[in-house]
Amino acid sequence: MTTLEGLAADGLDPVQQAFVEKQAAQCGYCTSGFIMTTKALLRQYPNPTDAQIAQALRYNLCRCGAHVEILQAVRRAAELMAHDDSDATGR
Ligand code: FES
Repeated sequence: MTTLEGLAADGLDPVQQAFVEKQAAQCGYCTSGFIMTTKALLRQYPNPTDAQIAQALRYNLCRCGAHVEILQAVRRAAELMAHDDSDATGR
């Protein structure tokens, strides 16, 4: 099992990097859950459709309106992971 902190053991994980780039957090309370769910989604669907993203994140709630940025971050994470060979380790 990998924790949010474990994702960053060797520097920011591509999903974390994408959330930073897209400023996909306001309060930050929900961010850990969004990042871990995104990581699991992208392992299953490396290039997810919008419907797959919505389905995967349906139980992650953001009360402060960062949904647009979060969706942008998921798409950006998919791009970054497509070019990141280190993620083949399953980190
Ligand atoms: S960023 Fe956490 S609830 Fe919106």
